[in-house]
Amino acid sequence: MKRVNQILTHPLYQDALRIIEQAEEDRIFCKHDMEHFLSVARLAYIYSLEDDTGISKPVIYGTALLHDIGRGKQYKSGIPHHEASVGLAESILTACGFSDEEQSMMLDAILFHRKDGKQREKRLRSILYKADKASRNCFVCPARDRCKWPKDQMNLEIKE
Ligand SMILES: [Fe+2]
Ligand SMILES: [Fe+2]
Repeated sequence: MKRVNQILTHPLYQDALRIIEQAEEDRIFCKHDMEHFLSVARLAYIYSLEDDTGISKPVIYGTALLHDIGRGKQYKSGIPHHEASVGLAESILTACGFSDEEQSMMLDAILFHRKDGKQREKRLRSILYKADKASRNCFVCPARDRCKWPKDQMNLEIKE
C-alpha cells in the first residue's frame, strides 16, 4: 500500500484536504473527510472481492481517497467536484507511481462517480458509485429532514 500512502502525504492532497475541512467546518450534512474516503475504500474493496473483479487494492483505495478531493474547488469556484477531483488526481497519481492504464481506470471512475455506471467493462466506476452511496449513514443523521437526497435513495437501514 506504499503508493496509497504516498497519495495521503502528497502536498497537493494535504492542501486539498485542509481546504475541504475548513469549508465544511459548520456543514450539517455529510462531510467529505478521511472517514468518508476510507468508508468508500473499504466498501468498494468488499464489492470488488464479492464480484471478483481482480482490481488491485491500491487502485481501489487510491480512487476512493481521491474521488471527492476537488470538493474545495467546488465550494470556492463552483466547478463540479468530480471534474475538479480528476484534475487534482491526475497530478497526484503520476507522482505516486500509478501506471497510465491504472490512471485511466481511476480517473474514469472519479469522473463518473456521481452517475450510476452499469457498464460491465467499467467495473471500478460501478463499485465506486455503489460504495459512495452506501457509505452514508442516513439512518442516524440528525440533518436527514433537511438533506436534498431524495428520500427513496437514502440509506434508511443497514444494507448488505
Ligand atoms: Fe462526490
Ligand atoms: Fe463521496
